[in-house]
Amino acid sequence: MIILAVETSCDDTGIAILEIREKLSSPFKILSNVVSSQVKLHKKYGGVYPSLAKREHQKNLPLVLEKALKEAKNPKLDLLAVTIGPGLEPCLWTGINFAIDLAKKMNLPLVPVNHVEAHILVNFINGPWMKTHDRRFLSREIFPAVCLVVSGGHTQLILMKSIGNYKILGETRDDAAGECLDKTARILGLEYPGGPAIAEQARQWKSKFLISNFQTNSKSQITKIKLPRPMIYTKDYDFSFSGLKTAVLYEFKKRSPKIRGSKKYIREMCFEVQQAVIDVLIKKTMKAAKNYKAKSIIIGGGVAANKELRKQFAEKIRKEIPYSKFYIPDSEYCTDNGLMAAIAAYYRRKGKTKNWKKIRANANLKIGEYL
Ligand code: KG4
Ligand code: ZN
Repeated sequence: MIILAVETSCDDTGIAILEIREKLSSPFKILSNVVSSQVKLHKKYGGVYPSLAKREHQKNLPLVLEKALKEAKNPKLDLLAVTIGPGLEPCLWTGINFAIDLAKKMNLPLVPVNHVEAHILVNFINGPWMKTHDRRFLSREIFPAVCLVVSGGHTQLILMKSIGNYKILGETRDDAAGECLDKTARILGLEYPGGPAIAEQARQWKSKFLISNFQTNSKSQITKIKLPRPMIYTKDYDFSFSGLKTAVLYEFKKRSPKIRGSKKYIREMCFEVQQAVIDVLIKKTMKAAKNYKAKSIIIGGGVAANKELRKQFAEKIRKEIPYSKFYIPDSEYCTDNGLMAAIAAYYRRKGKTKNWKKIRANANLKIGEYL
């Protein structure tokens, strides 16, 4: 079976073509996965403008399709898929209209894809998932799983009992973790998207200042800037990151222009804000994993591309719940792409339809909902 999937939920235009070879030991073969990023355009504004993003998707989709088909050597397609939500409504509609046109032309059924579920299911491309996609194997080895989806638009902890069976344990009450990093970057005068820019500054601070502090056994504080870890000790599984961004703003405003313009200050602030986000995400995920006796922890979304987060999560799980497995996609599959939609469509293929009118964008679609 060959699936072509379209993803336009935010500012990346993605189309992937995935071959599924049911009887082989590595069932998924990526024929192409083309992503056209709009980062350069949105950089100027420090964030994503939905109407601008929509126009770019309209422009990019035919080009991305042509490239994806060419790379895959124009295979015979069996199924189409498109992300219907959650995401930015004008962007979602652009992808949906494009996919419906294509489906009509090719007379192929279309699978509606939930973007948050796709961030989780993209993990199925790697590791033990490749051995088999037999549902019994997955159930025995993987479920129940605690999933953390953490991106620019979402921060959710989800209990996954099987594919399609989800319960949202908690979510952000205001900003998503990635949104907090993007806004912090803007305050500090760093580029959009903020996550990778902050990660780079934090890395430089760590290698220059933190290591030299340790080497000289200096008694000076590791970071002088102290930011809050919002809701880290609350009993629920909710998050709140808007206060963290405000704390960054107050800390920043309190400093003289000379200090806040210095590389050292910016890097230290990046290190601290990144660590604050990581501390909260790890603490809550570990709590859920222990409470629900999770056989695995599955992570996805753009922020999961963060190297420190990946490292610290792996260490914590190894130390505290070594019996749990840890799944996190390769960094390139953490940020939005068509492949995640193609994999999700494979597992949700029963939802395919030729009733085009049923396929509608839903900016607030919850995990487990499809139409
Ligand atoms: O999943 P994604 O591509 O789009 C949404 O569904 O939102 O995630 C984008 C988010 C942005 O907020 C970006 O700053 C963040 O992911 N991000 C990162 C890194 N790469 C992307 N955050 C931290 N570290 C990174 N390396
Ligand atoms: Zn996403």
